[in-house]
Amino acid sequence: MSRPTLSHPGLPRVIGHRGAARHAPENTLAGLEAAARLGVTWVEFDVMLTQDGHPVLLHDDSLARTTGLARLLCDTPLAEARRLDAGAWFGPAFAGQGIPTLEETFAALARLGLGANIEIKPAPGFVAETARATVETTLRAWPARLPPPLFSSFEIGALEVAQDLAPDLARGYLVEELPPDWQATAERLDCVSVHPWTKPLTRPQVAALKAAGYLVAVYTVNEGARARELLAWGADSIITDDPPAIGL
Ligand code: G3P
Ligand code: MG
Repeated sequence: MSRPTLSHPGLPRVIGHRGAARHAPENTLAGLEAAARLGVTWVEFDVMLTQDGHPVLLHDDSLARTTGLARLLCDTPLAEARRLDAGAWFGPAFAGQGIPTLEETFAALARLGLGANIEIKPAPGFVAETARATVETTLRAWPARLPPPLFSSFEIGALEVAQDLAPDLARGYLVEELPPDWQATAERLDCVSVHPWTKPLTRPQVAALKAAGYLVAVYTVNEGARARELLAWGADSIITDDPPAIGL
């Protein structure tokens, strides 16, 4: 096995998850603003396609949990998705927060000075389309004054599209449990980082990831003791809903 070849300036110790999901509605501009206010320098968010192929920020396939509309985003055109309220479910102070487009998100990141881990989150059956639209929008509209973004995905096919269309933009291999062949996969996709789920992650696994030359960004860590343990094991980055609670 060889070490990763793509260079990356590194990742911050703390990345706000879906913005700062304990403090403001996930995947909204208010969430990005909350993250910046809390002193975070990078955020993670999820990108999915509308029916008419526009990349927007949403985590679930369905709009139900965050907007109250029981319909899939992939069945909903952008114009309709934009009329929905994605903030009221979280609290009355956030009523009126919409589902942001990826381009609006980039403009907000530029205004707030935030870097980004862009998670490509395709609905079933839309892996290549989602990756293509996300990467093309990033190549066109990523603010030049921000540090280069990092794409991540649970979908190998999405990372392959990113590698094909934007070989020089960093990629992170997102997993729940580390599969036995993780190193071959990360190497084939020329990833700079691996993003494992905190729950099953062990000290020897972090050591193996670091020995192989990868940045390690662990999600989703909302307790300070666990965050400190992971950093002591050698993890580079903690992806958290609650930056103040982890106290880094
Ligand atoms: O990118 C880290 C994390 O967001 C992956 O899980 O389901 O919260 O998108 P999920
Ligand atoms: Mg995510």
